[in-house]
Parts: sequence; structure tokens; C-alpha cells
Amino acid sequence: MKIAILGGTGFVGTSLVTRWARAGHEITLPSRDPSRARHLAVLPTVRVVRADVHDPATLARLFRSCEVVVNLVGILNERGDSGRGFLRAHAELTRKSIEAASAAKVSRYLHMSALGADEHGPSHYLRSKGLAERHVRAAPLTLDWTIIRPSVIFGARDSLTNRFAALLRLSRGIMPLARAGARFAPVWVEDVASAFDRALHGGPTSRASFDLCGPEIMTLADLVRCVGELEGVRTHVIPLPDAIGRLQAAIMDFLPGKPFSRDNFRSLTVDNICRDDGCTRLGIRPAALRGTMRAWKSA
Ligand SMILES: NC(=O)c1ccc[n+]([C@@H]2O[C@H](COP(=O)([O-])OP(=O)(O)OC[C@H]3O[C@@H](n4cnc5c(N)ncnc54)[C@H](OP(=O)(O)O)[C@@H]3O)[C@@H](O)[C@H]2O)c1
Repeated sequence: MKIAILGGTGFVGTSLVTRWARAGHEITLPSRDPSRARHLAVLPTVRVVRADVHDPATLARLFRSCEVVVNLVGILNERGDSGRGFLRAHAELTRKSIEAASAAKVSRYLHMSALGADEHGPSHYLRSKGLAERHVRAAPLTLDWTIIRPSVIFGARDSLTNRFAALLRLSRGIMPLARAGARFAPVWVEDVASAFDRALHGGPTSRASFDLCGPEIMTLADLVRCVGELEGVRTHVIPLPDAIGRLQAAIMDFLPGKPFSRDNFRSLTVDNICRDDGCTRLGIRPAALRGTMRAWKSA
């Protein structure tokens, strides 16, 4: 199939593009900086192009003769804390890409959202992801869509476990942690790629959303301890009261790369666990974090 993937050069995109390129699909990958996607450009059926995906004329060109559009674009932080950056990257881009895909007579639109996405959620991230879902659901009937909503995603190249591993090595295992009791069900990146693969042709996944969770519910503190154990670092998590956690987020908001932000703190005030089991509905038996991480560390 001819597939255009927005946001396909990142962590999830790398798994999905590699899988679909192996299956022989022809993939167009726009990027703001194609030099960061050299690992994907070497795949024979993948074309990486420099593009500003926020420009409607560019989207029209990218989607010409495509059968499927996938939108994986997402940010965890914006400049400042107004919500404008989140709205642009999540909601406005989704609206523009739905319009461009419909005009180009694309038949499938696969949308990456996030578990907890909600127009009335506590953070800019979750609200903008919720609004983006509304744009997808309002797509014209000629554009058949599927929404995928994962909990936090782990994989060998994720930013979550790798960041904690680096921090634990630096801090000799001492980890003051905001929202340490927030709950997640980490889901493996290859299971997320499988969900997109199963949604490729529509059928039972047509005009439906799938919440994706791994098999274990973990608190943030459990997750950090698990990373420490696999790294061989004796770990002491110090749960921070919310007032101090908020202060930590406010300070880190001003550090380069925003390792943690006020908006991240607000996202952590709600649990990130599934009520609806999308993996089972898609026929996926999700892998557990500990066993999977142990296997790739010993590989
Ligand atoms: N990772 C998780 O734990 C997790 C959990 C739930 C949901 N999600 C969602 O899954 C999607 C993929 O996540 P990921 O972890 O693969 O992210 P990632 O590694 O940071 O990749 C993000 C991609 O989006 C593009 N991008 C980022 N900011 C953009 C902007 N302002 N305008 C246009 N393109 C932009 C980047 O493309 P270029 O830099 O090449 O232009 C990159 O390909 C996101 O929508 C995210 O919200 C992720």
C-alpha cells in the first residue's frame, strides 16, 4: 500500500516504518530534519522528505495517490505553558491533515492519540490530544479512521526508561519523584506497531478507538525501581509531596530540554490505565515490561 506517515521518524515511527517497509509497503516520511531519519531512509521502500507538515499545500502534495495516512505527531512539552504549542502539534495538525487526506481521496486515516486523551483533562497534553480525536471522529464518511490510545510505551529506544536509567546512574540510585503513585500499564512499542498493522485495512477496526495497555499496572515508583533493578543500580525512590513535586516541575520547566514540566505534572494527576482492553479486541497478547527489558538487555 502507499502510506504517508506524519511523525514517523521518532520512537514509535521507527518500529512501525521498519515493519511496514519489510512488508513491502511504499512509505513517505516527512520530517523537519531528514538527517535524523537516516536509519529509515536506507530502507528500500521508504522515502524521507523534508517538509513542513503544518502547511496545507505540503500535506496535499504528500498525500497525493496515498491510500493510507498515519498521524504519529506528538510532543510532550511546548515552549512556555500556554497550551498553544500542544494545540498546534496535536489538534490543528490533525484537523489540517484530515482535510488534506479527504481532499486527496485517501481511504484510511490511522491516528495516534494517548490513553487519557480528553478535552476536559487536567493538562494541555491530554486536552489537545482529546480535541484531535474529536477532529478525527468528525472526518467525512469517505475517510475511514481508527484511533489508537496507548498508555506509556516502552522499548529499547524509548525516552522513558532510558531517561530514568541515565538519571539513576547519575544520582547513584537516589530518585526524588513527583506523583510517584501515578499508575501506568506500560505497553511494548512492538505491540503498538502490531495494533497499527491490524488497523491498516479497516474492517472491524473501522471508525473505532483502541486503548492499549501492557499486562502489568505499575506506579511510577515501581517503574523507576524496575529500571534500577535491570540497570543493577540500588534504587531509593523518595516520593515527593504534591506541593514539592509542583515546585520541582516549575523549576525543571526552565531547564534545557524540559526533563519534567508543569504540564507533565498535571498529566500525572490521572492514572494511565485501561478500562477497555484494546489489545484483546485486536488479538494482541501484550508483552510485560520487566521480561521484555531483561531479554533485550541480555541480548
Ligand atoms: N512514547 C510514549 O510513551 C507515548 C505514549 C502514548 C502516546 N504516544 C504518542 O505516540 C506518538 C509518537 O510518539 P513517539 O514517542 O514516537 O514520539 P517521538 O519519538 O518524539 O517522535 C515524534 C515525531 O513527531 C514529529 N514531530 C514532533 N514535533 C513536531 C511538530 N511540532 N511538528 C511536526 N512534527 C513534529 C517528529 O518528526 P521530525 O522531528 O522528524 O520532524 C517525530 O517524528 C505521539 O503522538 C505521542 O503523543 C506516545
